[in-house]
Amino acid sequence: LPILIMNGPNLGFIGQRQPEIYGSRTLDDLPAMLATVMGNRADQISLSFFQSNSQGALIDRLEQAWQDKTAGIVLNAGAYTHTSLALADCLAWIKIPCIEVHISNVHARSNPLRHTSLMAPSCIGVIAGLGIMGYVYGVQALFYHIHQRAQ
Ligand code: DQA
Repeated sequence: LPILIMNGPNLGFIGQRQPEIYGSRTLDDLPAMLATVMGNRADQISLSFFQSNSQGALIDRLEQAWQDKTAGIVLNAGAYTHTSLALADCLAWIKIPCIEVHISNVHARSNPLRHTSLMAPSCIGVIAGLGIMGYVYGVQALFYHIHQRAQ
């Protein structure tokens, strides 16, 4: 099952960026964390990672995911979550099952802009505030969602 973990702007240095908000684990830990949670079912999943600070590059990568029939996407669009109609437009048409993830609990943060998401209407669910485990839960949720649909 090909699953894309896609990260938007300022998510290239997770582990080092404001660890008091985003924690000190890096995204390199994700495959091992997935294996711990999913056991040998993790073998059925092939993860691809993509991070860009550029809106256009993120949209290009989503279009590529549509072309290569990626089964699911775990998306942390960073601040573009709250602002990018262009990224939302792309998610809306490619119709790849998507889980929105935020490392921090955006709803508990002071800037009210962070409480909004332009991505969420095109996602099957949203995970926020669970640190980088959110990505693992996102992949797990996609796995069950896609299997359920196939039955
Ligand atoms: C974030 C939350 C966003 O509001 C912020 O702009 C980020 C990271 C998170 O993972 O908690 O860059 O998406």
